[in-house]
Amino acid sequence: MRIIRAKDYDDMSRKAAAIIASQVIMKPNCVLGLATGSSPIGTYDNLVAGYEKGDLDFSGITTVNLDEYKGLPRDNDQSYYYFMNHHFFSRVNVNPERTFLPDGTETDSDKACRAYNEVIASVGGIDLQLLGLGHNGHIGFNEPGDVFEAQTHCVDLTETTIKANQRFFASIDDVPRQAYTMGIKTIMQAKKVLVVVSGKDKAAAVKATCFGPITPQVQGSILQLHNDVTIVADEAALSEI
Ligand code: F6R
Repeated sequence: MRIIRAKDYDDMSRKAAAIIASQVIMKPNCVLGLATGSSPIGTYDNLVAGYEKGDLDFSGITTVNLDEYKGLPRDNDQSYYYFMNHHFFSRVNVNPERTFLPDGTETDSDKACRAYNEVIASVGGIDLQLLGLGHNGHIGFNEPGDVFEAQTHCVDLTETTIKANQRFFASIDDVPRQAYTMGIKTIMQAKKVLVVVSGKDKAAAVKATCFGPITPQVQGSILQLHNDVTIVADEAALSEI
């Protein structure tokens, strides 16, 4: 694992965007695995700035997102599709037909997960997967548990995650209780993994992910076994290392 120390959130975002930019420049038709949440917003802003300057061209890329809330349609402003469109897709020249997320409106979980696995297989593998890290060490919505789930599956969100995500909803009751998420095998099969982490409240999760035992109780710890992982973390997030 390569750990890159950033001063703060803005510095982390610039550095992470530079890594993604170099991927897009080196392989204009690459497949990017993307994440939502607070951590990558600044990264997307920097990529948009690169596009606006004329330095970056996203017209050839394909994107597959990590996850989507079950039950939220694309036009719900808390859906992950809405987030991606708002922060990235609508601001650059990505081909909308080459952007993929699990279908949150599919009520049949098996069908939704099977369809997303087929999408992932059809794009031919992920070149670079961007990840945030949950307070409990989750990646995607792969929550602490007894196993590492291989492929796309439906998860019951933990209380910690529901509370952490409550800030985006009118009330805690509005936070969906389930989500579809890419599995750990799919994430581990990405050629490169880039994790962005910021803030003191993530310091314990960073330490457990990078230096703790490899256990499904800290899903991110499996990344220790990947041969091309870069973690860009700010000083606060690295404060326990
Ligand atoms: C988002 C995702 C989650 C987040 C994680 C951190 O697509 O899959 O794993 O990356 O919960 O969220 P933030 O960045 O909001 O702290």
